[in-house]
Amino acid sequence: MVAENIGGGSRERLRSDEWYGYGDGDGRDGYIHRAWMRRGYPEDAFDGKRPQIAIANTASDLTPCNMHLDEVMQSVKLGVAEAGGIGLDLPVVSLGETLVKPTAMLWRNMAAMAMEEMFRANPIDGLVLLGGCDKTIPALLMAAASVGIPAVVVPGGPMMNGMFRGKRMGCGTGTWQLSEEVRAGTLSKEAFLASDRSMIRSKGHCNTMGTASTMAVMAEALGMTIPGLAGTPAPDARLLEGSQATGRLIVDMVHQGRTIGDVITRGSLLNAITAIAACGGSTNAVIHLMAIAGRLGIELTLDDFDEVGARVPLLVNLQPSGAYLMEDLYNAGGLLAVLAEVKDLLDPAPITVTGRPLVDYLDDRAIWNTEVIAPRDAPLISAASDDTAGAGIAVLRGNLAPNGAIIKPSAASPHLMQHRGKAVVFDSIEDFHARVDDPDLDVTPDSVLILRGCGPMGYPGMPEVANLPLPQKILQQGVRDMVRISDGRMSGTAYGTVVLHVAPEAAAAGSVLALVHDGDEIVLDVANRSIVLDVPEEELARRTPSPALVEGYAKATRGWERLYIEHVQGADTGADLDFLVGASGGEVSRESH
Ligand code: FES
Repeated sequence: MVAENIGGGSRERLRSDEWYGYGDGDGRDGYIHRAWMRRGYPEDAFDGKRPQIAIANTASDLTPCNMHLDEVMQSVKLGVAEAGGIGLDLPVVSLGETLVKPTAMLWRNMAAMAMEEMFRANPIDGLVLLGGCDKTIPALLMAAASVGIPAVVVPGGPMMNGMFRGKRMGCGTGTWQLSEEVRAGTLSKEAFLASDRSMIRSKGHCNTMGTASTMAVMAEALGMTIPGLAGTPAPDARLLEGSQATGRLIVDMVHQGRTIGDVITRGSLLNAITAIAACGGSTNAVIHLMAIAGRLGIELTLDDFDEVGARVPLLVNLQPSGAYLMEDLYNAGGLLAVLAEVKDLLDPAPITVTGRPLVDYLDDRAIWNTEVIAPRDAPLISAASDDTAGAGIAVLRGNLAPNGAIIKPSAASPHLMQHRGKAVVFDSIEDFHARVDDPDLDVTPDSVLILRGCGPMGYPGMPEVANLPLPQKILQQGVRDMVRISDGRMSGTAYGTVVLHVAPEAAAAGSVLALVHDGDEIVLDVANRSIVLDVPEEELARRTPSPALVEGYAKATRGWERLYIEHVQGADTGADLDFLVGASGGEVSRESH
């Protein structure tokens, strides 16, 4: 046992023994802690030799994608017991992407803060992190990183393939596609409403390469899951098998003193960027990875995403960029088969939770369906070159986004990657909904739709609204994509030529986004990584943000929202709260009784 590496535990003791040990004096504190926990556990359960494993469980009936995690938790618990540990269910804050208002992103940092404090405050030696829906895995990893004890992720897994009228219907992606068809008059509203049961058929998170799937890919590429587990469909028996194995593994990790800080390094963060680019993962990964890195004190910048991603070809043909769904990816060989194709682009040094490097798991990995996973020599999109913007995340800069903005080339239309058009500006999502289908709206297919006031501070919480539906009169012309620009985010299941995360956001001091007027010309040049508002500087210096825009910004009143608005950082650094960046370790210094 290497106890000095185990959270805040002192040398040669488990961290939990700070609570359960017999200690000095009359031993009253240990007595209290053991007595309240016994309840049928054997006498040796809290003898200081059996690692106490918290299974941080985001199961909730109001997080439908994570509803099944209680079953997963039981399998983890079984594995922990088999290895001689004590597995303890620890329900933590859960965030359901589709239900939580105003946006689950407002609560990611709150969930991470609550989780962190509960991890630290309780007598635990290791963590198994059960997540699924978009924000749950990032929040769990941020929290665990700030505590620094051994931790493993079990991603809850995607739902089964959706099928509608003989075609795959991706969760989320299908909604965007079919609702556009209704607005264009090419699909009846009744048919659209009847498609929901075809889209969501089982337990599990969204089955596209949306944010939840991307977070599972991220966790595995970071080394934080048992290799090969990410992407196992939620109803698949192999998820429970892997969960049980994870239970055994975490006990071993505690004995070995292998902490989250040993697994997540700059090298593994860059490996995660490579994996996400090869899979065509969600743009939300940028914010979450930077926030996780920030908790560990590892420098990771927007430019890392562009530089690393530019070397990576797109290999995975999943919606929203492609045709297939997560179940198909799993059956085609899964993430390890993808990573085997780009093994030369991975840092071989970072270890996984097993103690072995990720690259050790890539030999002899076969692709079973080249329609779903393209081989390296025939990629869906080549790595960036003079002719292509590449598959990863492109970071754009210019006077409109001096701190950066991002675009996902694989989800965008090639003919719009270089574009000049006149701005049509919306000062809030409500303003957009009120005017988008107005027949008198001065908009053409070449226009650039701008939605602002949707950044972390302004909204607050940076909602996924940037993939604006196209105006009806444009849809009726047969057009299905336009350039859109926003300081908000885009759902990982969405697609289109959408410039996101513009920083500084409109609500921040010095924002040029806040100064754009209808009719101003915007120049997008993805190949040259540029986004420019073509208005003379002297003219911009004369402008001020419109009263409607300023009036729409969130007001700091009370509670979490106030704390959030006063302390949230920009999207370009991960949108964590300034006082949550970094770590406090696992030590609890005060006596509890
Ligand atoms: Fe939960 Fe998509 S809504 S993963």
